[in-house]
Amino acid sequence: MTTQSHHDPAYLDSLAERFTVLPNDNPASDAKREGLIDKPAFGQVFSDSMAHMSWTKGEGWSDRRIEPYAPIKLDPGASVLHYAQEVFEGLKAYRHADGSTWLFRPDANAERMQNSAKRLYLPEVSVDDFLASCAALVLQDRKWVPTRREYTLYLRPFLFASEPFLGVRAPQEVDYCVIASPSGPYFPGGVKPVSIWVEDKFFRTGPGGTGFAKCGGNYAASLVGEYRGIDQGCEQVCFVDAATKTYLEELGGMNMMVAHKDGHVETPSLNGNILPGVTRRSIIQLLEDSGHDVVEKMIVLQELLDDIRSGEVTEVFACGTAAIITPIGRFKSEDFDVTVGDGEPGELTMKLRDELLGIQMGEIEDPHDWMWKVC
Ligand code: COI
Repeated sequence: MTTQSHHDPAYLDSLAERFTVLPNDNPASDAKREGLIDKPAFGQVFSDSMAHMSWTKGEGWSDRRIEPYAPIKLDPGASVLHYAQEVFEGLKAYRHADGSTWLFRPDANAERMQNSAKRLYLPEVSVDDFLASCAALVLQDRKWVPTRREYTLYLRPFLFASEPFLGVRAPQEVDYCVIASPSGPYFPGGVKPVSIWVEDKFFRTGPGGTGFAKCGGNYAASLVGEYRGIDQGCEQVCFVDAATKTYLEELGGMNMMVAHKDGHVETPSLNGNILPGVTRRSIIQLLEDSGHDVVEKMIVLQELLDDIRSGEVTEVFACGTAAIITPIGRFKSEDFDVTVGDGEPGELTMKLRDELLGIQMGEIEDPHDWMWKVC
């Protein structure tokens, strides 16, 4: 495949054909849908359809279909409900000004889901099936893609062990689904800096754990820390490494970047504990394109606090598919409370945010062919 081919919708279109469409006979009315997709909340409403395919140990993947969005019939003995064999992804469909609909780097999400599946001992979804399922769902529910800037159809592919069995073993039956949620900004209330609780008592993962995999368990494990932070007036939690409590790793559901006054930017290195974010990777590229040095390293919490206090660190921001780029204004724990710069969104943060959104919304050139046209 050449880099040009995914700008041509024929590529995803022909893949999407492997999913048979079972239409929803009772879709939302135009008025209801238009009301719903204009809502600013993240992840609260869902479109008319979902993608679904099934796997068995003997037969592999089969029954690729787009079906009406509905509760999943699941045996109470299903392994996922007991042992959490589940991985997921997050990506977005964007509506451009000319009415066309695009995905951002879906191939990167497909590859990451394969790596996550391997870690959880789940069967892999092929890159083509992943692309096909997302494209087929967006094609079927294209009217659900919002038009406003920062409003997107958030796609949530997920994979789980569905066979009824209480023994702990490699799954014999697995389901893969993609659902779609028209969504506004992850953090409501415009781009304002968030406060971060630095958690050093509860950890989301540890060495050799599942930190790099996008599995539900990591997010479940983050909640105690997250709510300790919320009790202290913070919006997000940042975890330090479980082994030494010295290094910053990632937030509850996002990566983190630190800008220094000489223009270089640091981000925690992918040490196995950290999710390899698609947004993280894209921002590193955009920074390098504009002449910034980016250093992936183990970031020492104490040094970061000192550098924020001295003005050596000028901006810090969170990044992820859902949150895009969100400025961080403050770090707090039981031992410190430090404001980054003047607590306002930084210049570099906002420039990168605008650039990334500009590419995603088709307002500026896409120099790395990250966008894939669906229709
Ligand atoms: C995403 O950014 O897509 C995620 O999966 C994070 C989640 C906490 C919404």
